[in-house]
Amino acid sequence: MRINKFLAEKGLASRRHADEMISAGRVKINGQLATLGANVEEGDEVMVDDVLVSMEETKLEYYIMNKPKGVVCTVSDDRGRKTVMDLLPEGVGRVFPVGRLDYATEGLLILTNDGDLAFRLTHPTAEIPKTYMARIEGTLTEKDLNPIRSGIELDGVLTKKCKAHIVETNKAYTKVHVTITEGRNRQVRRMFEAIGKNVEFLKRVSIGQLKLKGLDRGEIRALTEMEIAYLKGL
Ligand code: URA
Repeated sequence: MRINKFLAEKGLASRRHADEMISAGRVKINGQLATLGANVEEGDEVMVDDVLVSMEETKLEYYIMNKPKGVVCTVSDDRGRKTVMDLLPEGVGRVFPVGRLDYATEGLLILTNDGDLAFRLTHPTAEIPKTYMARIEGTLTEKDLNPIRSGIELDGVLTKKCKAHIVETNKAYTKVHVTITEGRNRQVRRMFEAIGKNVEFLKRVSIGQLKLKGLDRGEIRALTEMEIAYLKGL
């Protein structure tokens, strides 16, 4: 098996991140620095940062969390803020978040130690639809959403076509469902900023057909076999 796939299956990194670790000279196979594309087999001794990686099969774990706002989506935060890892109940293995929700955003987050699945779900070519409920300050019309639907320039690159529709509007606020197939930094907030609107609340409600429904803020549960199979098929 390729070394990057092996490290991903161990839940140590996505395949891409594993390649970066290999290029950085952090991975050894039988005492020799690993090269990109090298293979490993049973009996080989693989080390990352000079720590032995077990050849035993790792139990893969898959969870869905309703991330609250005020929590970062990283394994550790250099500013000492609370992370999603702090919300994991006892007994959950060494999982990591799949993709990111920003600090102020809440909603559906997948956590797993399956680096391969994480890699595929977050790869830009996968174009998996992710739906957000955005509450915008003030009134908005369907027509106002047209630039968001057709593409907004962020950092010199147009966002892909997306779906957006109003679910509720009044003088104080407008609720919009937005479905994007990318995962650019603070994308939904920045798309609204670009049309002069402020997102005052943002929540991810689904990834593909996987829905957040039924989970309270901060709650986490294991994904069912059916849900795992569905995500693997995306
Ligand atoms: N768009 C945002 O603005 N923030 C997120 O966390 C996800 C999508």
